[in-house]
Parts: sequence; structure tokens; C-alpha cells
Amino acid sequence: MKVCIIGASGKLGRYMIQHCLDRGYEVVGVCRPESVGKLADYRNLITIMPGRTDDRAVIERAVAGCDGVLTVLVPWGVHHYSTGTAQAVLDFAEPGARLVFSCGWHITRDGQDVYSWKIRLIVKLLMPLVKLARIADLDDQVEACRRIFASDTRWTVVRGSDLEEGESEGLPVWSRRVGDPILAGNMTRRIDYALFMVAALTDDSLVREAPAIVGCRTPSALAHA
Ligand SMILES: NC(=O)c1ccc[n+]([C@@H]2O[C@H](COP(=O)([O-])OP(=O)(O)OC[C@H]3O[C@@H](n4cnc5c(N)ncnc54)[C@H](OP(=O)(O)O)[C@@H]3O)[C@@H](O)[C@H]2O)c1
Repeated sequence: MKVCIIGASGKLGRYMIQHCLDRGYEVVGVCRPESVGKLADYRNLITIMPGRTDDRAVIERAVAGCDGVLTVLVPWGVHHYSTGTAQAVLDFAEPGARLVFSCGWHITRDGQDVYSWKIRLIVKLLMPLVKLARIADLDDQVEACRRIFASDTRWTVVRGSDLEEGESEGLPVWSRRVGDPILAGNMTRRIDYALFMVAALTDDSLVREAPAIVGCRTPSALAHA
């Protein structure tokens, strides 16, 4: 399998590279030119394509011939970075390719998610301030996901809980709805978030799903095992 990882140099991206290599996949990684050095350990193991992830020409070249595309969807800046990235992937990925995108629990597919006061506070109060400061634009990530949900590609949007570093605990568990008791633990190891993204490439039951995930060793996950 040939897999393109878009946003390969970040923490999630590098874990995904390792999981893909462990499975024997061929990897193409897109990362910002200034971040190529962060992929030094993988220089001889993957193809690196420097470029902003919303650069349509870069994405068109990177996803050519790929069976799967793993996209780290981030809302940095106020120039539609998320929508530019998602739209390029939707437009240029091979027909039938598996497209897996990352985002947070704050993204809702059907409005049926039930959020804690903490998430509501972040979305309603903190994020507008972050946008005003021109650091990040969460609304753009929401719009990017709206376009993904509306597309007829073979997509999965993986909605991450709070994240922490540490050894792998295994494949996270998931639910369609934030607010489901199984997700109450609200913590996933970043390495396992990456594992879920990579496993989704070959899990057809996740096609056109937006799983909200949580670590499989959290008390809420164990209670529902
Ligand atoms: N952090 C959390 O608690 C959390 C919780 C739930 C879900 N998520 C989701 O998990 C995914 C990964 O996020 P992460 O927080 O764990 O960080 P991460 O894996 O380190 O990824 C951050 C990404 O953003 C890029 N980036 C950083 N600054 C940028 C800028 N100014 N302009 C453009 N790109 C920039 C990084 O590229 P460079 O390597 O080039 O800097 C990297 O690809 C995201 O989709 C996020 O929505 C995160």
C-alpha cells in the first residue's frame, strides 16, 4: 500500500509514519519546507515533499498513485489553511482512495454531540480570541470537515480527545457521539491516535464515519469493555 501523510513532520504525523513503516507501507510525506529537518530520521525511508499542506500543486503531486491519504487537519492562521488542505485532498486523491483526516471532538457531524462545559468554553470564548489574534481559525476547520462530510469520497474523520504522550496502550475505542459514557475518560495517547488513523485505512467499517476516540485503557473505556 502507498500512503501519503499530509502534515508529516508534526507529532501525530511522525507517529503515523512509524506505524505505516511498521506495516511495510510505502510513505510519501508532505510538510512545510521549514520543518523538513524534523523528518531527518526518516530521510532514507520515505519520500519527503516539502510544501504547505494547502498548496494544491504540492498535494496533487503527493497523492498521485496513493491508496490512502492521512491528513493532519490544523486550523493555523486565518487564511483558510484547513479548508485549503482538505479541498486539495478531496480534489486530487485517487478515485476510491481511503482518506483519513484528524481533528478534535469539537467537530460535530450531525449536531448530536453533547459537550462538557470545558469544550464549550474553549469553542465559545477562547477560540474567538485566538482568531482575533490571527493565530488560528477553528471555524475554518469546521468548514473543512463540512466539505469532507458532504463529499462522496471514502473518507473518515477521526475526532481526537485530549492527547498525552507515552507508550502505546493499543487501539483506541470510539463512539459516534461525544457525550457517550465510553468517552468520559477524554484522554488518548498520541501514538495511539496515530495508530487509529493508520488502522482506519484498512477498516471499511469506518468509511464515512466520524469516530470520536478515547484511549482503550481509560476508566470509561475499561468500564464499557
Ligand atoms: N493537541 C490536542 O490536544 C488535540 C486534541 C484533539 C485533536 N487534535 C488533533 O490532532 C491533530 C494533531 O494536532 P497536535 O496538536 O497533536 O499537533 P501535531 O501533531 O504536532 O501537528 C501540528 C501540525 O500543525 C502544523 N503547524 C504548526 N504550526 C503551523 C503553522 N503556523 N502553519 C501551518 N502549519 C502549522 C505542524 O507542521 P510543522 O511540523 O511544519 O510545524 C503539524 O503538521 C490535529 O488535527 C488536531 O486537531 C489535537
